[in-house]
Amino acid sequence: MRIIRVNDYDEMSKKAASMVASQMILKSDSVLGLATGDTPIGMYKELVKLYNNKEIDFSDVKSFNLDEYYGLSDDNTQSYHYYMMNNLFNKVNIKRENINILSGIAKDIEKECLSYDEKIKNAGGIDIQILGIGVNGHIGFNEPSVNFEAGTHLVNLDKKTIESNSRFFESMEEVPKSALSMGIKTIMQSKVIVLLANGEAKAEAIYKSINGKICPEVPASILQLHNNVNVIVDEAAAKLLKNY
Ligand code: PGA
Repeated sequence: MRIIRVNDYDEMSKKAASMVASQMILKSDSVLGLATGDTPIGMYKELVKLYNNKEIDFSDVKSFNLDEYYGLSDDNTQSYHYYMMNNLFNKVNIKRENINILSGIAKDIEKECLSYDEKIKNAGGIDIQILGIGVNGHIGFNEPSVNFEAGTHLVNLDKKTIESNSRFFESMEEVPKSALSMGIKTIMQSKVIVLLANGEAKAEAIYKSINGKICPEVPASILQLHNNVNVIVDEAAAKLLKNY
């Protein structure tokens, strides 16, 4: 694992955007694995700036998002479809047919998940996968005690995740209790992984994922076995790290 310590959220966002941009410059038809949540918003802003400055071009890029809430339609303002359109896709020249996000309202969820993994494979695999991390160490929506062998699947969300996500919803009842998520197996097949974490709330999860033992209770710990992981952490999220 390559640990890149930065001072703050801005520096984390700029470095992450530079890594994605470099990948796109090296391979114009790159396959991007994208994440949602608060963490990557700054990175998307930087990518839009680079696009507006004509430094990067999304016309041949394909994207696959990590996850989507079960039961939310694309136009629901809390859906990750909506988030991605708002934060990135509506602002750059990516082709609609090259955008892939799991459908939270697919009739046949199993088929939706299986065909998602198949589509990733047919696209040649993910060149660079962006990840955030949950306070419980989840990546995507792979919650503690996950099966490391699982591909894309339907997940019951952990209590901590539901609590953490409730900040985006008006009431606890509205917070989805399950989601579709790329599995650990799918994530681990990405060629390059960039994990982003900022803020003290993530310090314990980062410490356990990097310094702890590899175990299903800390899903992100599996990344220790991947041969090209870059972890960009600000000082607050890195504060418990040892030897880095
Ligand atoms: P956050 O979520 O970026 O909103 O903190 C990260 C995650 O839960 O994976």
